[in-house]
Amino acid sequence: MLAAVTEKTPIVQFNNHLDHFDFTNCIIQGDCLAVMRSMPSKSVDVIITSPPYNLLNSSGNGLKKNTHVGKWVNAAIKDGYREYDDNMPYPEYVEWQRECVTEMVRLIRDDGAIFYNNKNRVQRGLLQDRREIVAGFPLRQIITWKRSGAINFNAGYFLPVTEQIYMICGPAFKLVKGANKLTDVWEVKQEMKNPHPAPFPEDLIDRIVSSTSGSIILDPFAGSGTTAVSAIKHDRNFILIEQSMVYCEMARKRIDGEDWRNV
Ligand SMILES: C[S@@+](CC[C@H](N)C(=O)[O-])C[C@H]1O[C@@H](n2cnc3c(N)ncnc32)[C@H](O)[C@@H]1O
Repeated sequence: MLAAVTEKTPIVQFNNHLDHFDFTNCIIQGDCLAVMRSMPSKSVDVIITSPPYNLLNSSGNGLKKNTHVGKWVNAAIKDGYREYDDNMPYPEYVEWQRECVTEMVRLIRDDGAIFYNNKNRVQRGLLQDRREIVAGFPLRQIITWKRSGAINFNAGYFLPVTEQIYMICGPAFKLVKGANKLTDVWEVKQEMKNPHPAPFPEDLIDRIVSSTSGSIILDPFAGSGTTAVSAIKHDRNFILIEQSMVYCEMARKRIDGEDWRNV
């Protein structure tokens, strides 16, 4: 049962199942794993998403919730998200993300694809390679997203400026004509003008959307709704899922062309 709570782009609250509801071009407020489990198999074409990175579960001297250490005073993400603290024991995080990817794989059609963004990190001096999240799924390519520089406070390793976009594909997935000329290293500056603490840059998502042809694009960790903005720009449909009502409202205002930066 879903209850519509706005009249513009609908924000619908998820109450345990999706009952004969066309959720295309809607924002669904709820836990994405539960929502995805309620959606029919092979019902979307493309999934583009970036989950929380579990950044506040840090062994280092970087991000720690509410520590306000001088180094991270200006990093919005240091306090986590509005309604999610981004701080799970690592094995639990990997298990949760694998459950999410399992659902995503079930939801795409045979010619569909998932673009799953995550970021490697060093913990207790050793690389935590997020490939363990995608191991065993039909991974076809890892796109390297190179952001512009930052500051490295750890003398133990070089400044990391890359994130990964894991391209997990249905067996019949193909890029649109000409898109295979792009390389697998994408240099795109991080987004600076979005009040969400960890937004996609629009250019990054435009590159994915314009390289694919599917008409229904899902983002289960939707945040400020960048995936929908790009989908609309390219004349596609979207489905957003986001746990926080604050971010659902931010995404709705952004999609509907209202002032969204002050939500
Ligand atoms: C990295 S951000 C996504 C930002 C988005 N790509 C954008 O451009 O704004 C991850 C989002 O996942 C949301 N989130 C965390 N747990 C969730 C859950 N279980 N279900 C749905 N959304 C969740 C957080 O509130 C946060 O907005």
